[in-house]
Amino acid sequence: MSVPIVRSVDQLREIVAAWRREGVRIAVVPTMGVLHEGHLSLVRAALEKADRVIVTLFVNPKQFNSQADLAAYPRTEDEDAAKLAPLRAHLLYAPDAEEMYPAGFATTVSVSGVSEGLCGAFRPGHFDGVATVVAKLFLQTSADFGFFGEKDFQQVHLVRRMARDLDIPITIVACPTVREADGLALSSRNVRLSPAQRAVAPKLSSVLLKTAEWLGRGSPVLPTLAESRAAILAAGYREVEYLELREEADLHPMTSLDRPARLLAAAWLGGTRLIDNVRLFRIGSTD
Ligand code: PAF
Repeated sequence: MSVPIVRSVDQLREIVAAWRREGVRIAVVPTMGVLHEGHLSLVRAALEKADRVIVTLFVNPKQFNSQADLAAYPRTEDEDAAKLAPLRAHLLYAPDAEEMYPAGFATTVSVSGVSEGLCGAFRPGHFDGVATVVAKLFLQTSADFGFFGEKDFQQVHLVRRMARDLDIPITIVACPTVREADGLALSSRNVRLSPAQRAVAPKLSSVLLKTAEWLGRGSPVLPTLAESRAAILAAGYREVEYLELREEADLHPMTSLDRPARLLAAAWLGGTRLIDNVRLFRIGSTD
């Protein structure tokens, strides 16, 4: 059975209002399409938690840093709908840009603190675009639960903060990163890698895991991160934008591993920017 598709806020609201009359719990899984197993794992988790699951598909122009990147972003709605059908997601909400941002649209949701640094430092305006569209999706769907992947760890913090600050009654559920067998985090951007780049790509996750192990055993943070940056470059990545240790709970920078932490990285492989992160725990002493 195919998944029903709606394209307007009015249609969406009618369906959601009928569900509300039934007293069911609703989950939303926001996506920009090009669905892969990572997205599908979010849909499966959402189906376990809620009675109705809305997957949204909207390539959000406000979160792209360049027109060229936006234009190059693949649109694969038919394939995406076909992937959702066997999962029995209840609705695909796929508005166009005019529906999401009608003429005269003038509001930006900006979340300070968690959006600064890491990806925020390298992608000006990106998180304002994400916060704005996700706030709209939460309000349009009035979902009880919002499902996000931990690969975009900073984004998870951002949407949690935004929903809390705006009193949007939704629980954010963060799901683990899904990886290829060789460790590469699933991402819609992976399709852009050449075969040679694809062979190098898993080095990012393997360096992160090794670094997490060293830090967990008490290696000093800053020299270890410097060595790991060098290892990513030596593997064939063109540039490491950041490789940082941050607090798991609030993303504050850390220079010693004395609280639960995440190691987060963004690096360029040719013309493709990949991000990844791993959780880490203290095993031995810290610096
Ligand atoms: O993670 C994404 O794909 C996007 O940032 C999101 C959450 C769908 C908002 O456009």
